[in-house]
Amino acid sequence: MIKTSFTEIFGVKYPVIQGGMVWCSGWRLACAVSEAGGLGIIGSGSMYPEVLKDHIRKIKAATEKPFGVNVPLMYAHADQLIEVMIEEKVPVIITSAGSPSKYTSRFHEAGIKVIHVVSNLKFALKSQEAGVDAIVFEGFEAGGHNGTEETSTLVLMQLLRKHIRVPLLAAGGIGSGEAILGLMAMGADGVQIGSLFAAARESSAHDSFKALIVSAGDGATDLVLKKIGATRLLKNRFYNEVKELELNGGSADELKDLLGKGRARIGMFEGDMENGELEIGQIAGCIESVKSVNEIFDELKSSFNDALNRLKLME
Ligand SMILES: Cc1cc2nc3c(=O)[nH]c(=O)nc-3n(C[C@H](O)[C@H](O)[C@H](O)COP(=O)(O)O)c2cc1C
Repeated sequence: MIKTSFTEIFGVKYPVIQGGMVWCSGWRLACAVSEAGGLGIIGSGSMYPEVLKDHIRKIKAATEKPFGVNVPLMYAHADQLIEVMIEEKVPVIITSAGSPSKYTSRFHEAGIKVIHVVSNLKFALKSQEAGVDAIVFEGFEAGGHNGTEETSTLVLMQLLRKHIRVPLLAAGGIGSGEAILGLMAMGADGVQIGSLFAAARESSAHDSFKALIVSAGDGATDLVLKKIGATRLLKNRFYNEVKELELNGGSADELKDLLGKGRARIGMFEGDMENGELEIGQIAGCIESVKSVNEIFDELKSSFNDALNRLKLME
């Protein structure tokens, strides 16, 4: 048990959110994380509204612990997903990629806690003003969609802490208890972790994607697609095509055409490792095997405690 303002407000044992992840975080992963003492999050961005409803009902039947649903607000069907979340009275909603002010009061009226994901100080301040219950800031090390400023987690931590009074959670590049302790020493009230859980046994990512994450070394990812929404991808054939088009001055429309529809699904979910869009963070370079969520939590706890003891020895 670690007590922070985040664990107190959200009723969880550990200050760890498993980030919502398209094609990876269905109810099974979210449930395993919530049962382990973190805050498990269903990633609704890759779901139709009726699929989301099914996932919410399954997690409610499987755990009494708090859980949440993430919705990237840029998606065309975000409003329909939000209706399902409100109807089903999910305990927590994490919004990303959009304005925090649009929905916060509506969620609060429905008795739902709200967390917004930001990648710069301006949106952190807007989120605070909108009355969110917590803020996740995500450095550009992170897997998936990223901020355009390309600010690192370490810098955002120092930039935001002075200005933000609501619980503040760090995301991007976190794969160990040492990293969690370090960020908490800098003032984080908790962390959000994505990539490490994308490779977990309970993740719905395809086994070939998990195997590729495990074999990725440092430098295996890159931030591309900046003209249409910066995204950190694992390097594969599709990435090479994107990179070549970008180096040749490809326009936003050309990039959209190349991306097409369903790239993330065919890669991360269906296992086409050459032509799929494979979203993963720099921390993939530190992920050595596929583990269960419980094993991941055990390792996070022991590396956190080892690091704490090392610091205590230094007088
Ligand atoms: C495969 C994958 C899919 C993701 N999908 C989403 C998403 O749908 N919505 C969202 O807000 N963030 C998404 N993210 C970001 C994560 O929620 C989390 O903030 C990020 O992974 C943290 O950085 P890390 O990957 O270094 O742990 C995704 C990340 C990954 C790796």
